[in-house]
Amino acid sequence: METVVSGIRSTGNLHLGNYYGALQNFIKMQNEYNCFFFIADLHSLTTHPTPANLHGNVKQVLIEYLAAGIDPEKATIYVQSDVPEVTELYLYLNMNAYLGELERATSFKDKVRANPENVNAGLLTYPVLMAADIIIHKATKVPVGKDQEQHLEMARTFGNRFNRLYNHDYFPEPFAFSFGESLVKIPGLDGKGKMGKSEGEGNAIFLGDTPEAIRKKVMRAVTDSGPTVENQQKPQEIQNLFDLMKVVSTPDTLAHFDGLYNKMAIRYGDLKKQLAEDMVLATAPIRDRINAIANDADYLRKVAEMGAEKARESASRTIKEVREIIGFRKF
Ligand code: TRP
Repeated sequence: METVVSGIRSTGNLHLGNYYGALQNFIKMQNEYNCFFFIADLHSLTTHPTPANLHGNVKQVLIEYLAAGIDPEKATIYVQSDVPEVTELYLYLNMNAYLGELERATSFKDKVRANPENVNAGLLTYPVLMAADIIIHKATKVPVGKDQEQHLEMARTFGNRFNRLYNHDYFPEPFAFSFGESLVKIPGLDGKGKMGKSEGEGNAIFLGDTPEAIRKKVMRAVTDSGPTVENQQKPQEIQNLFDLMKVVSTPDTLAHFDGLYNKMAIRYGDLKKQLAEDMVLATAPIRDRINAIANDADYLRKVAEMGAEKARESASRTIKEVREIIGFRKF
């Protein structure tokens, strides 16, 4: 059976982008593959969370993984920092990751631009840690959003380089995977790029948001002053709303508003009201489950312990072999 690995950084609550971009794929995959889904708390250290925030964020992602439908009996759900073998492999891979290629990563350049005062080495080697996450379980399929394609290419590079260096056909190549035809990109509400938690207040709809919060955010989404000619191309902020509608609304609803736009008869207030109600409906079952398990400390502990054990079993097998390949031997 093929192995699947994916993780989400614990830097805040999960949003619709995480759900449609990643979690939905996780849930479909858990029935067909050997799946490892983890909470990337080591990755979250690049932005220096306080100890209290760190733990709270990990707990929140764990709750939301479970609420979204990941089944701990089918998939291995674990916290990255519970598996120290990952950091050991990260160290080995770092020895063959080059400054130039790390500096050229789009995500690194974006982060340098956004936070020039915090360009730490962890940020630079983020793709190396991500590669370690994936290849430690010898995964071949990685359900992630479009923005992670480059990181996956780097994971293949690092794995192949290790294989070549030690003349060992050891790590298989991991590829991005989506059940749909293409990887989905979920836009945010600020009229710009993808939905994200760091893009500012109101840009993201969180899985745990109350219906009132969802309505308020959607009604404030950025729009323009309306189409001026029939069948014109939609500017990005409007296309974003239609793209969101495509994932939460019915095809009929989408076609209805598309038709109104093309006839220049659209009222953005109506479009937003409909979009908000469809988002409320789409998230209702997840919201209910979040509330049901959020305070079940015993259950959360059991899931985390079981996951850590299964993940370490797999990771330590790899590390043992990697140590032998590299040449660490017992006296
Ligand atoms: N970089 C991913 C993101 O920001 C998170 C991540 C870390 C990940 N390690 C991973 C995803 C390994 C898939 C596999 O979304």
